Amino acid sequence: MSAPATEAGRARISGRTLRTDRWWVPPLITTLGLATFVIYAGIRSFVRAAYYVPEYHYLTPFYSPCLSDSCVPGSSHFGTPFGELPGWIPLAFLSLPFLLGFRLTCYYYRKAYYRSVWFSPPACAVTEPHGRYTGETRLPLILQNAHRYFFYVAVLISVVNTYDAIVAFHGETGGFGFGLGNLVLLGNVIMLWAYTVSCHSCRHVVGGRLKHFSRHPVRYWMWTQVTRLNNRHMMLAWITLGTLVITDLYVMLVASDTIPDLRFVD
Ligand code: FES
Repeated sequence: MSAPATEAGRARISGRTLRTDRWWVPPLITTLGLATFVIYAGIRSFVRAAYYVPEYHYLTPFYSPCLSDSCVPGSSHFGTPFGELPGWIPLAFLSLPFLLGFRLTCYYYRKAYYRSVWFSPPACAVTEPHGRYTGETRLPLILQNAHRYFFYVAVLISVVNTYDAIVAFHGETGGFGFGLGNLVLLGNVIMLWAYTVSCHSCRHVVGGRLKHFSRHPVRYWMWTQVTRLNNRHMMLAWITLGTLVITDLYVMLVASDTIPDLRFVD
């Protein structure tokens, strides 16, 4: 027998939910994970310390591209078109807002924080605290539609990160060098590409608006590959948060002489 409905279309039950399982665990874990990353990235982006290893040209992604006279010598892989920046402006001021926008408007992260932070709703069959539901039809959530534009910029930033990882194959006295830091930077860049390419907007760019896949075999093949990655988008979203923190942490520890870089070729 179906449950009687209120005027608002909701089931008439006395409690907030009839669920007896620990439905609140996944949203709680998501909140803790996102909060940890946001706090770490926020602090590291502003401290302006231990973000570059001059001997090996390791640059943390949180400071890339470094384009101002405030950057330590050698860390500006693309020159310094900007002068000194006041201390309250992150040195990666050009990329960070777009990366933040890219993640914030990501379809997976939306699902995650709509449930875990905004409680809209927190879980299946659990009522939400909000009286009305307007979805993404009005400000500010209508801005989520800008995701595809953030995707285009994120591709450019991934190219920049790739360049950073390539120039890091640098020996202490010049020439080719290779250490554990290179593996860390490279692993991070590969994961960033996997996350970026697995984006739903990327899937639409390569295979959207086609009426006949059979007439576009190359785009169909690309769409198939992107779809495979897209199936793992949530996993990649979390992995890249982890690889970003690990990469930054490693560069910070080496740059501050807390640990030496494990060198394979010097
Ligand atoms: Fe997640 Fe585009 S949908 S990055």
